[in-house]
Amino acid sequence: MEVVIVADARSGGDLVAEAVASLIDRRPDALLGVATGSTPAPVYEALAARARSGRVDTKALRIAQLDEYVGLPPEHPESYRAVIRREVLEPLGLDDDAFLGPDGMAADLSEACSAYDRALAAAGGVDLQLLGIGTDGHIGFNEPCSSLASRTRIKTLTRRTRRDNARFFDDDEERVPRHVITQGVGTILEARHLVLFATGEGKAEAVAAAVEGPVSAACPASALQLHPHATIVVDEAAASALTRADYFRQAYAAKPDWQGL
Ligand code: F6R
Repeated sequence: MEVVIVADARSGGDLVAEAVASLIDRRPDALLGVATGSTPAPVYEALAARARSGRVDTKALRIAQLDEYVGLPPEHPESYRAVIRREVLEPLGLDDDAFLGPDGMAADLSEACSAYDRALAAAGGVDLQLLGIGTDGHIGFNEPCSSLASRTRIKTLTRRTRRDNARFFDDDEERVPRHVITQGVGTILEARHLVLFATGEGKAEAVAAAVEGPVSAACPASALQLHPHATIVVDEAAASALTRADYFRQAYAAKPDWQGL
């Protein structure tokens, strides 16, 4: 596991976007797994800027969704499908054909979850999965005590996550859906490269538990310790509870440029 400490959200976004651009250079039709929420916005902005200036050609790129609210139609502005269309697909000039995601409106939700796992496998698997982290250590919407072997399935959001996400629903926690479909921790671990991006002091405790704590379902993000290629990019504030921050800085400073992330 590599931990890269950056000055701020903007430089982190730029670094992660560069890693995505380099993947696309190597593999133009890569399957990029995307997260929603506030954190990845600087990544998507930096990637879109590269696409606009012709520094990366995204026309064959494919996008896979990490999670989705149950019961929000795709036209709802806060459905994750709508968020990804707005923040990722449109800025990169991609249409819905480039997009894979679970159906949070399906009559048979269990089948929709299994169908999504099958679709990801049929697409060749995720090349690079961008992840955020919840203040409670969740990745995707795998809340604490999610099985580390879990597959895509329905989960119930914790009170804390619904409170955290109320800002997208006029600060009304009651309007945040209770249920979600999320790629399981086991599904996420199948991606070839995991890049978790975290910014702000509110994430410091969760980041420290994920990076330096034991591998435990109590902190689903700690499962990244089991992955052969996991990169954690954090700003100074999100890194503030790491006891080994100095080592992480030294290791990254000594890394040859050609290695990338
Ligand atoms: C959403 C997702 C979540 C978020 C996490 C952090 O697709 O995967 O795990 O990444 O809740 O959200 P923000 O970035 O809004 O703090």
